[in-house]
Amino acid sequence: MLKGCATAPAKTILLGEHFVVYGEPAIVTAIDRKAKVTAQESPGTSIHITSDLGCGTFEGADFKTSDSCRKVRRILEPIRISTQSVLDYLKLKRGLDVNVESVIPVGVGLGSSSAISVATVAAVGRLFDGRLSTSDIFSLALDAEKFVHGNPSGIDQQVSAFGGILLYRKGGTSTRLQCPVELPLVIGNTGESRTTGRLVESVRQRHERLPNIMNQLIKVAGGLVEEGAAALKKGDLQRFAELMDINHGLLVSAGVSTEALDRLAHAAKAAGALGAKLTGAGGGGCIVAMSEPGEQSKVAEGIKRAGGEPIIVEKADTGVQSWLEK
Ligand code: PMV
Repeated sequence: MLKGCATAPAKTILLGEHFVVYGEPAIVTAIDRKAKVTAQESPGTSIHITSDLGCGTFEGADFKTSDSCRKVRRILEPIRISTQSVLDYLKLKRGLDVNVESVIPVGVGLGSSSAISVATVAAVGRLFDGRLSTSDIFSLALDAEKFVHGNPSGIDQQVSAFGGILLYRKGGTSTRLQCPVELPLVIGNTGESRTTGRLVESVRQRHERLPNIMNQLIKVAGGLVEEGAAALKKGDLQRFAELMDINHGLLVSAGVSTEALDRLAHAAKAAGALGAKLTGAGGGGCIVAMSEPGEQSKVAEGIKRAGGEPIIVEKADTGVQSWLEK
């Protein structure tokens, strides 16, 4: 029987997270860690999902699992929504077996859930139609993110679908940035998982309490993203990294950093990084550091000594890819 297969990359936000929710641009790059999804027709109309995170079967509003973990429905729901959104889009009622394999750390700001949603949409789309455009895949995958948190900018789905380094604006528009040099990036994982929706909500509440102050932070963030895009185009990593440091300060001011994130960012800099900041929603999760070219392992050592898990990553130029398998 034919299988629809797809892979989609993880991401790290280099500048502008949170402020992107308020309409400012952000810079994000796809990285070389992927989720892979396969989809195969099965009898009936239920959607059966197997993954490293849990297994279960959805039949309309009913959910059955043999998993002992009670959180499994919440984990699998975005995969069901992604699958269902393609079936609805193609006006089909089918049963499906969906299998997810991912090497992307979960819940730490590297876009694991978006990569899985994007790959799910592409795999199911490929199985039944094969003509979903990358923009269609982005839009359908965004439905699942709306379940995960209410007010997503769409940045994670966009970069996972298109790949490369993107200058992104909420609403689904992005420009691909060409950087003439490699980006020597090192991620530092605090190992503390967190919920993006809760952090987006905490920033919203601070914005509600202090609109004048927060609006100024948002404006500064937008300005530094524009400067950052110009620096990247010239390959000026030093200047870009300085902007990352300032961006970390803005995120501290927005209330989303933690003691562990600050510690890892300082440790990365002490080990020679040009700049470092938290990446993604914060509240735990990861930092991203820009090292000097060829010096990533020194920065990784510094992160490790400070109690973090270092991950040396490369930019991924390719976004979602899909194919059929027998
Ligand atoms: O998926 P995360 O945790 O990396 O966060 C996404 C980035 C935010 O700007 C915090 C939220 C959004 O929708 O843009």
